[in-house]
Amino acid sequence: MTTATEATSVRTAARVVGAVKVYGSGDTAVRALDGVDVDFAAGRFTAIMGPSGSGKSTLMHCAAGLDTLTSGAAYIGDTELGSLDDRRLTLLRRDRIGFVFQAFNLVPTLTVAENITLPLDLAGGGGDPEWIEALVDVVGLRDRLHHRPSELSGGQQQRVAVARAFAGRPDVVFADEPTGNLDSRSGQEVLGLLGRAVRQMNRTVVMVTHDPVAAAHADEVVFLADGRLVDRMEAPTADLVLDRMKAFEVRS
Ligand SMILES: Nc1ncnc2c1ncn2[C@@H]1O[C@H](COP(=O)(O)OP(=O)(O)OP(=O)(O)O)[C@@H](O)[C@H]1O
Ligand SMILES: [Mg+2]
Repeated sequence: MTTATEATSVRTAARVVGAVKVYGSGDTAVRALDGVDVDFAAGRFTAIMGPSGSGKSTLMHCAAGLDTLTSGAAYIGDTELGSLDDRRLTLLRRDRIGFVFQAFNLVPTLTVAENITLPLDLAGGGGDPEWIEALVDVVGLRDRLHHRPSELSGGQQQRVAVARAFAGRPDVVFADEPTGNLDSRSGQEVLGLLGRAVRQMNRTVVMVTHDPVAAAHADEVVFLADGRLVDRMEAPTADLVLDRMKAFEVRS
């Protein structure tokens, strides 16, 4: 049952405040993030969109503790990432964040089952067997568990990476162009999977994409241009997202 308080207070899984990221220095300095404030609500699927070079990957990497901000702050839940030393940051990434990248990054010598539970095994615990079982079914890999990645299609490999990202029930899963290396059908499967993880398994996903069709799978889209947050869109459709992207291109 949901109380009135729960219904109105949205928990934030991740956020950045006044986020500035400058690469390099002097004449060659690039201001990849130029004062971004954004929050990613728990239990939602958010897409980050914007033209190439607008700072999408930088935002994701800084929000996920893979890179540090030049100024401003990044939070996972209530934890400010800048306050953590390297060891605690590594533990936070391991225990509270899942990642999916364009290149599937599976370990070729391990089976599908071993790849899925690798983060948990590295953490020294087996995780929750019932959760892992449910995940294996959601991603549809039950009959591939003892295969190696090289024996799978690209779409199947990315589904393994998705299962691995969710294996430890992280607070948030960050995905950078997860369908970038897939044909459209496999891409749709992976996107459907991310959507089901959010809606049926109460997970949180933040996905970087430049594909309006991919963004339409999200609950909300945030738009970046030139390192700034320029818009947000609830209940996106591919057509609405495409129109919005075209508007940026005309202006820039
Ligand atoms: N390690 C780096 N060193 C220097 N400049 C960088 C570095 N990483 C990114 N940049 C620059 O920062 C800006 C934002 O890059 P970012 O990779 O975040 O863009 P993006 O929106 O993810 O683009 P794409 O859609 O092409 O992946 C770009 O101008 C890029 O050239
Ligand atoms: Mg990128």
